Amino acid sequence: MLAEHIYDPEFKNSSKVLRSILETTGEMQRRSCLDMPCGTGRNIFLLASCFSKVTGLDINKKYLDDIKTYLPVYNAEHKVVTQEMNILQQLPQELDQFDLIVNIHYYNYHLLSGLTASMRPQAFIYIETPGCAGENYKDLPSEGEVQSLFNRMEILMYKESICKSAGLQEKSRSFKALLRKLP
Ligand SMILES: C[S@@+](CC[C@H](N)C(=O)[O-])C[C@H]1O[C@@H](n2cnc3c(N)ncnc32)[C@H](O)[C@@H]1O
Repeated sequence: MLAEHIYDPEFKNSSKVLRSILETTGEMQRRSCLDMPCGTGRNIFLLASCFSKVTGLDINKKYLDDIKTYLPVYNAEHKVVTQEMNILQQLPQELDQFDLIVNIHYYNYHLLSGLTASMRPQAFIYIETPGCAGENYKDLPSEGEVQSLFNRMEILMYKESICKSAGLQEKSRSFKALLRKLP
């Protein structure tokens, strides 16, 4: 029996914005892509359908084991590499090899600063923060963080929602952004 949240051949559970970016951003090279954190692979199989090689990182070994189980189902055994990693403590080596870095539903300013600093000029990064629901606003970026992350980046797409949270001095925001590092 294939678990529905993992077996999703039409990529209905993948990020809709990521799907649309992959369909429309023609100038993106499709050699190598990094999905961090990759969770149970909601987006990793979609990425494997577009890139020659996809690396998925997550701290949860069970999620990575689930992904490995499903690789043959997607014909992606030779394309996807997973690695158990605490991405707050270390970044993968050779970040400059990736044509696209994907960071969905896991916002951490220092992590993203490290990624944007180390990625290759002309490479792309897609960031989709968690939404404003519940107490998420506490961990979402301020305007200053967004500006700092976008420094030295070409902004190809940006959509934001300002979180309405009582008592917060500086407003936080949820956003989706496709950026390309300037040369
Ligand atoms: C909300 S899920 C998002 C996963 C995936 N990007 C998606 O869109 O489905 C957050 C993921 O972050 C992982 N995670 C949490 N802390 C982490 C850390 N320090 N290092 C690596 N992964 C972490 C969790 O295991 C979980 O899979």
